[in-house]
Amino acid sequence: MNRSEQVAVITGAASGIGSGLARAALARGMRVVLADIDEAALQTFAATLDGPVSSCTVDVRDPASVEALADHAYAAFGQVDLLFNNAGVLIGGKSWDIPADKWAWQLQVNVLGVVHGIASFVPRMIAAGRPARVINTGSMASFIAAPYMGPYSASKFAVLAISETLALELQGEQAPVSVSVLCPGPVQTDIFRETVTMQDDTTSDRTVGMMRDITVNQGITPDELAARAFAGIDEGQFWIIPQPDPLDTLYRQRAEAMLERRNPGIAMPG
Ligand SMILES: NC(=O)c1ccc[n+]([C@@H]2O[C@H](COP(=O)([O-])OP(=O)(O)OC[C@H]3O[C@@H](n4cnc5c(N)ncnc54)[C@H](O)[C@@H]3O)[C@@H](O)[C@H]2O)c1
Repeated sequence: MNRSEQVAVITGAASGIGSGLARAALARGMRVVLADIDEAALQTFAATLDGPVSSCTVDVRDPASVEALADHAYAAFGQVDLLFNNAGVLIGGKSWDIPADKWAWQLQVNVLGVVHGIASFVPRMIAAGRPARVINTGSMASFIAAPYMGPYSASKFAVLAISETLALELQGEQAPVSVSVLCPGPVQTDIFRETVTMQDDTTSDRTVGMMRDITVNQGITPDELAARAFAGIDEGQFWIIPQPDPLDTLYRQRAEAMLERRNPGIAMPG
C-alpha cells in the first residue's frame, strides 16, 4: 500500500515517544490522528506539525473515550492502518510504598489502555479486510523486572502478554491484521516526571533518580526511536527492540537465569 494512503492513530501523542512517532508518520506521508489526555499539550504539539493531522482528546483508561477516538479517526480519515497504543505512565518506588491508587493508575493506563485500543480498533480493522497493524508500546521493563518499578514492570509484562496473545488470535482468524510490541530502552522523555517520595529512606529515591538520569542523559531521542520503530514495522517485526545493544545481553541473562533456576539478582549489561 502507498504510505501516503495510510492512517496512523497514536495515543500519548502529545509528548515524548508519541510525538516522535507522529513526526515520523507525517514525514512518511501518512495521515495522523493525535490522541492524548492532555488537551492543551495536544493542541500545542499539533500546532508544530505540518500535514494531515486530526487531534482527539482521549483518556485511554475509559473504554467509551477510546471508542470515541475510533469513531473520530474513521470519521476523519475513513480508515486506520496503524494503531499505536502508546500512552503510558510511570511512578517509581518500593512495591509496598506505592499507594494502591497509584498502582491502579499505572495498570489502568498502561494495561487497560492497550486493551481498550484493541477492543475499539481491531474489529474495525478486521471488518475492513485490508492489512493493518497494532503496535503496543511495551518497554525493556516487559522483559526485566527492575527494583522500584513494580507497577510499571507488571504493566509492561502484561503489554507483552497481551500483544503475543493478540498476534496468535489474529493468525488463528487468518485476519490481515498484524501486531508489534515496541520495547524501547531509555528514550529522552518526561516519563519520570512523578515518583513516590520517600521520607526516611533514600535507596529507592536514588535508584529511581538514577534511572531518570539514564533516561534523560543516555536515552536516544524520540525521533531516533520512531525511526527504528518504523524500520521494524517495515520489516513486519513482532518484536521491535530498538536498542538491542546492550539490552539483548540482559534478556539473554534473564532467560538463562530462568532456565537454570537461578534466584533473582540485579544484573547489569556485561
Ligand atoms: N521514555 C522511555 O525511556 C520509555 C522506555 C520504554 C517505554 N516507554 C513507554 O513509551 C510510552 C510513551 O512514554 P514517553 O516516554 O513518551 O512518556 P511521556 O510522558 O513523554 O508521554 C506519555 C504521554 O501519554 C499521555 N497520557 C498519560 N495518561 C494518559 C491517558 N490516560 N490517556 C491518554 N494519554 C495519556 C501523556 O499526557 C503524555 O503525553 C509509554 O508507554 C512508556 O511506558 C518509555
